[in-house]
Amino acid sequence: MPQAQQPLQYVRYSDQIETRQADEEELIDKIVASMGRVNRKVFDRHRHATRDAHAKSHGVLKGELIVYDGLPEPLRQGVFAAARRYPVVARLSSAPGDILSDRVPSPRGMALKLIGVDGPRLLPGRGEARTQDFLLVNHPVIPFGHVHAYWEVQQTMEKHADNPELVRRAVAALARGAGKVADLLHVDHPTLEAVGSPDLHPLGDTYYSMAALRYGDYVAKVSAAPLSENVKRLAGQHVNGDGDSLLRDLVVDFFAAQGAEYELRVQLCTDVQRMPIEDASVVWPESDSPYLPVGKLVFPAQPAYSPARRVYADDVLSFNPWHGIEAHRPLGSIMRVRIKAYEMSSRFRHEMNVRERVEPRSIDEIPD
Ligand code: HEM
Repeated sequence: MPQAQQPLQYVRYSDQIETRQADEEELIDKIVASMGRVNRKVFDRHRHATRDAHAKSHGVLKGELIVYDGLPEPLRQGVFAAARRYPVVARLSSAPGDILSDRVPSPRGMALKLIGVDGPRLLPGRGEARTQDFLLVNHPVIPFGHVHAYWEVQQTMEKHADNPELVRRAVAALARGAGKVADLLHVDHPTLEAVGSPDLHPLGDTYYSMAALRYGDYVAKVSAAPLSENVKRLAGQHVNGDGDSLLRDLVVDFFAAQGAEYELRVQLCTDVQRMPIEDASVVWPESDSPYLPVGKLVFPAQPAYSPARRVYADDVLSFNPWHGIEAHRPLGSIMRVRIKAYEMSSRFRHEMNVRERVEPRSIDEIPD
């Protein structure tokens, strides 16, 4: 007789769900100071300040998040608590903290900013922001999933910061999961596969929060996957073409003629042993808890990278997992290090480029 399927038991969020490392604050300060030194070197080469990570953008999209109606209770949390629409701005990027050629394969980012979100804020006192950011990368986990592992990698990156060519090659080798780089970085080789980043079309990729966050009464990872047929068709498609800004060209050409839809999905934690919060390098098995749809992102056809839009997204906007509400508190040491890391990177960038930091209150503030 077939077994009746038991409903999944989801882990409840509590303030005790995180575990701080004894030396965590010290490590965080070391990581952030090192990133700052590297960023200043990049600034000195360009005489323009870029992000410490995900410096290069490929497209900036205006659209909407439509939260699905009739979600079951565990999914009806935070910004997904009710069927409604939020204006969204998305910035597509590559991971390095420098403007490299698109011919160097590297992990890709999709940063989302929802506008008009109410609720107790994670970083009160930062103006009148009503935004909720979700930062996603095209791999389910981050190989350096806690502050100890991250500090090891950061030291190597800083050691070679004067040699952008070597860092470029290291990034490319990392992207292929090369063992030699694993030795260089003193990290477990299998975890490096996580940054394996074949040169695929960025609009066909699935993007993940990699680390956990609070999902109202529960705990989850978040992901965006191609939904409309035109971007589904691009999944696994190798990038063809040449040029240092090939990815921008692909994104701009695509959105000049058509729109796209992505589904936002969440994977709820069912077991903190098998789905750890403090080590974001561990894949949460989808056989234990699948990603479940909660809404869709709709981006109409548009000019995806006008000069005004590029400057606004690169120099004026900041995306930050801590821009948001308590109901989506980022969890684990790799998320906690990001409080100071993003603040420092954005402050330096805005100061050096003489730009005010802005959290948009309306989608109309994003230029066409
Ligand atoms: C845990 C998984 C992570 C994901 C999914 C992620 C994703 C991203 C994305 C998509 C961006 C680009 C945002 C934009 O378009 O403006 C970004 C920027 C950035 N990331 Fe991360 N990241 C992660 C972890 C980290 C960690 C551990 C650090 C530092 C220790 C870090 C430091 C930064 C910095 C400094 C920026 C630039 C911020 C700015 O200047 O505005 N990230 N990240």
